[in-house]
Amino acid sequence: MNEDQLHQIINLPKTELHLHFEGGAPPAFIRGLAKEKNIDLSRIFNEDGSYAYRDFVHFLSVYEAATSVLKTPEDFARLCTAVLEQSAENGVVYSETFLSPDFCGGGDVAAWREYLHAIREAAEAAEKSHGITLRGVVTCIRHFGPEQAKTAALCAAETADDWLVGFGMAGDENKGKQRDYAYSFDMAREAGLHLTSHAGEWRGPQEVREAVEDLGVSRIGHGVRAIGDLAVVDMLAEQGVTLEVCPGSNVFLGVFPSLDKHPIEQLRDRGVNVTVSTDDPPFFHTTMRREYDALAKTFGWDEEIFTELNRTAMQAAFCDADTRDAILKKLERP
Ligand code: HPA
Ligand code: ZN
Repeated sequence: MNEDQLHQIINLPKTELHLHFEGGAPPAFIRGLAKEKNIDLSRIFNEDGSYAYRDFVHFLSVYEAATSVLKTPEDFARLCTAVLEQSAENGVVYSETFLSPDFCGGGDVAAWREYLHAIREAAEAAEKSHGITLRGVVTCIRHFGPEQAKTAALCAAETADDWLVGFGMAGDENKGKQRDYAYSFDMAREAGLHLTSHAGEWRGPQEVREAVEDLGVSRIGHGVRAIGDLAVVDMLAEQGVTLEVCPGSNVFLGVFPSLDKHPIEQLRDRGVNVTVSTDDPPFFHTTMRREYDALAKTFGWDEEIFTELNRTAMQAAFCDADTRDAILKKLERP
């Protein structure tokens, strides 16, 4: 592949399905808010200003510490602007982001509505100024337990509409079982929300199967460790379940030792719908451009393959048909 082709690839219009909202916060943004509010957060930063953590579980606690400076709806609106500016700079034209009522009003529905309103206003402004469309997916947090998940699901169900389009689960995959959260997923489904769950990032193929069978999700966050059991891979392909793959995150956190050992290509070759996202870009020192650059160099994927990935993402997107069609048009080559 020559420089010109690589340039074309990293500048493609992109769609991203797996982005934790607070995880998109640039460290300087969080430090600025901490300073404004006189909160000492120095322990979560390295000397070079990046986020400091040892492993995935520590990452989750640093994530929650960073999130603790985001207090008001206005703070989240500012976060939304900062995150969408970064995404738009990377050529993202459509993004779905994970929002957690736990961090936005503590699970209270009335408070959640205020946060959601502020975030949506900021997203609509960014759509006008930067041409990026955002939709929200409420996530419960697995390590907060099934009872707290119900409060997140209730917030999601009460605010489900053409913007708040999905429900999912993030957090520590090693805690409990997928089916412990079935009540919350049922509530969300009944409210018309589309479903996704983190599975098969840390645990193996059985966890991926359980997310599909016990929660009825149409997408899986990560799902990459399904590769350990080809029967699970084939089930994903047959049922048309889409994987929100975050290769840079997986390599940074050591799920796979390097990108050339990552199963994204094998999964794709076996007929699974794979898409590409960043997860928590500043935490994992990645961006959508860097993901495309690394995938093109490692697997030799050409522009056609990346365009296909983006189409696959839009087919699996949780937005309404009009939005999907409008974004699919933006993905067409001029
Ligand atoms: N994985 C799981 N839970 C999370 C993440 C993640 O990358 N970011 C924030 N919560
Ligand atoms: Zn994630």
